[in-house]
Amino acid sequence: MARLVINGQSHTVGVDPDTPPLWVIREQIGLTGTKYGCGISQCGACTVHVDGEAVRSCSLPVSAAEGKKITTIEGLAEGGTLHKVQKAWIEHDVPQCGYCQSGLIMAVAALLKDKPKPTDADINTTITNICRCGTFQQVRAAIHAAANA
Ligand code: FES
Ligand code: FES
Repeated sequence: MARLVINGQSHTVGVDPDTPPLWVIREQIGLTGTKYGCGISQCGACTVHVDGEAVRSCSLPVSAAEGKKITTIEGLAEGGTLHKVQKAWIEHDVPQCGYCQSGLIMAVAALLKDKPKPTDADINTTITNICRCGTFQQVRAAIHAAANA
């Protein structure tokens, strides 16, 4: 059994404490915007926020997220207004297949909270998500646009 607060809503789910939050978010709660890519903390497709920090949700036990505030891509917009990263993504037409993009957006939103004007070096160090469609140039442009929005 685990009690989680996801996008402001409290959920009690009957799962093993070692279950990664990714599976709870997708299978128990039904929020499928967060994706499974590698399962070993390498690709970033599963990135969510835990207490405002970008976390790869495939690689921690759900017990570590209890009592913390989890935000998924479905909860990033506030009051019907898209987050500035989401707006920049649309303006720069970033996604191709889209599979990696919710994780990327969550990682970038956390980066901009910590560093409102990230340099290219900051982006290289922090945004290590893998995009098999190769959207990296558009991602970088959209990050700078969001930072200047
Ligand atoms: S699925 Fe979590 S990092 Fe790839
Ligand atoms: S947009 Fe296809 S994997 Fe990134």
